[in-house]
Amino acid sequence: MASSPHSSSPIHHLLVFFLLFAAATAFPVTSEFELGIQKRIHFRVYFHETFLGPDNTTVTVVNMSLPYTFGDIDIFDAVLRVGSDASSTVVGRAQGAGFHMSQQEEASLIPLVLVFTAGEFADSTLTAIGRLDASGKAERAIVGGTGVFQYAWGKLASELVTSSVEGLVAAFDVYVIYYTDVGRSASP
Ligand SMILES: *[C@@H]1O[C@H](CO)[C@@H](O)[C@H](O)[C@H]1NC(C)=O
Ligand SMILES: *[C@@H]1O[C@H](CO)[C@@H](O)[C@H](O)[C@H]1NC(C)=O
Repeated sequence: MASSPHSSSPIHHLLVFFLLFAAATAFPVTSEFELGIQKRIHFRVYFHETFLGPDNTTVTVVNMSLPYTFGDIDIFDAVLRVGSDASSTVVGRAQGAGFHMSQQEEASLIPLVLVFTAGEFADSTLTAIGRLDASGKAERAIVGGTGVFQYAWGKLASELVTSSVEGLVAAFDVYVIYYTDVGRSASP
């Protein structure tokens, strides 16, 4: 079968050249990097959420007034403390949103970031996402992290400690796997 009369024209060659050039420059140069030592740790922090008063940490930004609060959206900036007591040391914030996404029960899809501001994890974050229902007990996936927690994954298990119309306290058990810096892994 005869090829197109244009297939060997200078224009065609130029076009092929530009397409190959575009393909070559469309991908950045890649290089490998090293990961440090893998660490697996568990620790517990307490999530302190306040609904009422000037220090409230949660706002309902969408209120659909539907059964099981379906369609509602909350935004929270809760306090993370070392203990369940309201006066215990602050280690960071838990910032995220609750998307009420069930028509059969009170349940929310909650993406949240644990922002550590004090202690050995200061300036590091962990991002978790998952479901929370009215039982107050949940397991959510830790899907990443920054700072000390670079390349993290793991599990965030939470359980209600106290709850009232004014607020609640939940225990957050963080099971996290992450990698140290290569530089740091070289030292003993
Ligand atoms: C939450 O705090 C803000 C700012 O202090 C205040 O204006 C608002 O009334 C509070 N909301 C509730 C429900 O107490
Ligand atoms: C949503 O609106 C309804 C009706 O006004 C009210 O009873 C309910 O308390 C509101 N819910 C929230 C979370 O603000």
